[in-house]
Parts: sequence; structure tokens; C-alpha cells
Amino acid sequence: MNRDQKIFETYSLVIGVPAIVVLMYLGVTQMLDRNQRASAADTAEYQAVVTDQLRPYGRVYLPGEEASANEPVVTEAEQVDPVETMMSGPQVYNDACLLCHGAGVGGAPILGDTGQWAARLEQGNDALYRNAIEGYTGESGFMPAKGARMDLSDDEVRAAVDYMIGELSN
Ligand code: HEC
Repeated sequence: MNRDQKIFETYSLVIGVPAIVVLMYLGVTQMLDRNQRASAADTAEYQAVVTDQLRPYGRVYLPGEEASANEPVVTEAEQVDPVETMMSGPQVYNDACLLCHGAGVGGAPILGDTGQWAARLEQGNDALYRNAIEGYTGESGFMPAKGARMDLSDDEVRAAVDYMIGELSN
């Protein structure tokens, strides 16, 4: 055995042995890891978790198919009737009468204009209420029933007429 060969063999051992140890270590750890994963996947608990995570969010039922028992039950919200409220005279006026009676559109007697209202007031309030509620066509134009706001109650229209009459004495 010459010297070169001796050096070569020594180096082979110095480099080779640790290399083999490292490779064996890697092989063993990988085997252990695989075993561990396999056994974890076998447990019922693990499977339940995975199944739960893969569960779809919803399901489409075709006509005739029945929803399962744990399906959320959607019930119709209880219909609650709104509380009945009555608008005040000024509110009704602003909402439904101002359009014509504010500036005298279509011959409507203007709010607060005593000259235009004097003859009308002579009829008495009941006639004014009736004409406002039922509507009529007079000498100066057409007054639509309830100012064409059929959602208003008779009392609301009366309140608006009272307000209009009240504005004359101011
Ligand atoms: C589309 C326009 C219009 C609207 C809206 C309107 N009016 Fe009139 N109103 C008239 C006209 C026009 C007359 C006058 C008719 C006539 O005498 O020839 C009149 C007349 C009246 C009179 C006098 C009635 C009489 O016998 O002389 C009263 C009261 C009245 N309106 C109340 C109301 C009230 C209250 C509202 C709102 C709820 C309202 N009007 C909304 C056009 C309107």
C-alpha cells in the first residue's frame, strides 16, 4: 500500500462515515414521520375534524327532496301593524296642499289671502271640509278630492282645512 492510497482511504473514512450516519439519520426520521402521520390519520378524532372542515356550506335540494333535520328552519317574520298616526294640519298642508294653495296653482285660493277666502268661509266649515274631502270643480278651478292624496284620512284633511282657515285670522 503506497502513501497516496493510505491518505485516500483515511479521507474516505473521515468523509464517508459521517455521510453515512447523516443519510441513515434522515432515512429513519422520515420513516418515523410517515408512520406518525399514518397513525394520526387513523384516529376517529382526526377524521372527524377533516370531515367537518370539508363539509360544504350549503346544499341544493331539488323539488321533491326533503331537507334534513339539522337544516336551519327559516320562519316568516311576524308581521306587525304599524302604529296608526295622524298628521297634524300643518304637516298635511305642507305635504299635500302647499303645491297648489301655496302659490294659487290652477286657481287654488292662496293660504292666508283673506280676499280669496272670504266668500268661501261664508259657506261654513262643513262645506269647506266636504269640498276638500270629496273634491269639486268651482268657478276658479278644480280641487281634487283630498288634494289627490287618497292616503290621507278625512280627519287629516279636516285638520289641514282648519289650519288654512286659522291662517286667515293671523
Ligand atoms: C291640484 C291642486 C290642489 C291641491 C293639491 C289642493 N287643492 Fe284645494 N283647491 C284647489 C283649487 C283649484 C280650489 C278652488 C276650486 C274652486 O273653488 O274653483 C281649491 C279649493 C280648496 C278649498 C276651498 C273649498 C271651497 O268650498 O271653497 C279648500 C278648503 C281646499 N281647497 C282645501 C285643500 C286641502 C286641505 C288640500 C290638501 C289636502 C288641498 N286643498 C289641495 C286646488 C288644489
